[in-house]
Amino acid sequence: MKIILGIESSCDDTSAAIIKDKFLLSNVIANQSVHNAYGGVVPELASRAHQQNIIPVVDKAIKDAGIQKSDINAVAFTRGPGLLGSLLVGTSFSKGFALSNNIPLIEVNHLQAHILSHFINEKGKDKATIKFPFLSLLVSGGHTQIVVVRDYFDMEIIGETIDDAAGEAFDKCAKVMGLDYPGGPVIDKLSKDGNPEAFIFPRPRAKGVNFSFSGLKTSFLYLLRDELKKNTNFINENKNDLAASLQKTIVDILLGKLRKAVKETGIKEVTIGGGVAANSELRNRLNVFAEKYRWTAHIPEKKFTTDNAAMIAITGYFKLLKGDFVEQNITPQARLVF
Ligand code: KG4
Ligand code: ZN
Repeated sequence: MKIILGIESSCDDTSAAIIKDKFLLSNVIANQSVHNAYGGVVPELASRAHQQNIIPVVDKAIKDAGIQKSDINAVAFTRGPGLLGSLLVGTSFSKGFALSNNIPLIEVNHLQAHILSHFINEKGKDKATIKFPFLSLLVSGGHTQIVVVRDYFDMEIIGETIDDAAGEAFDKCAKVMGLDYPGGPVIDKLSKDGNPEAFIFPRPRAKGVNFSFSGLKTSFLYLLRDELKKNTNFINENKNDLAASLQKTIVDILLGKLRKAVKETGIKEVTIGGGVAANSELRNRLNVFAEKYRWTAHIPEKKFTTDNAAMIAITGYFKLLKGDFVEQNITPQARLVF
């Protein structure tokens, strides 16, 4: 029996989770509302808020799990990629926790953790087992990648964005519409009452299974600029249609490339991960694609798509089984690749 404490602090969510042999016992997340007024994450404020949140969040995770601190066999933390000041808080806390409790320390790559979040189990909830090799469409605020996953730690990025990430496209377009940060969930909600065919945006021509979203962002901006000249109330009168059309375009681009990746690799076992994987249109359309093209699609629960420590703890669990530990001189890495 192994019990892992996972710590996530790569961006603006402070999270701690306890996993016992692949089963989640607790997952506590403190969001930082301090950034809302700025329309994006302010790194200095994020790191300060992590410092305030980390101890109460860990304390709650241990209590919610119904265990004692002394039951924990290892601590796993996000080493990167992410904001350096934010990563430092989780890394330093984890080092101190490992040292004072005399347990091993495990570093985790945040992106690998998003992909491995599929392996989190919860008591009383059955889920289909995912088979290697599988393809993961990893879509977040900072990354957009298609990854071939041959084994837990044998992953190869076969396509990625050449400019903005999909989450960034949602957030930046939402910002020019005057919507709150993060814009992805707001666009998702507005889209429910909008016509996805109301506005047509150009499709990028990125090579192979690579992505590009900067052109979409520019054409969205130009559309608003031109229409606002004619009608100053344009955004307000069309916000649902604008959101639905933008969302449809982004999802079309993502699934179009995923389909290409399936064709190129012959791998039909498919997953999605990262914050944008919470998008309802992406989730619905992936199921439609899976049925049509005979893929096996694994769609994670929404709570495991955005940043959380449960995914760090499960990744840590697989590293614990391998005895893959790090020493106290480990440092966070803002740009960590795998
Ligand atoms: O994985 P994540 O929590 O943090 C990063 O590692 O970036 O992803 C955050 C991103 C943001 O860009 C946010 O707007 C987007 O995920 N997001 C969504 C939805 N929920 C979160 N985008 C579209 N639809 C959603 N429902
Ligand atoms: Zn993330």
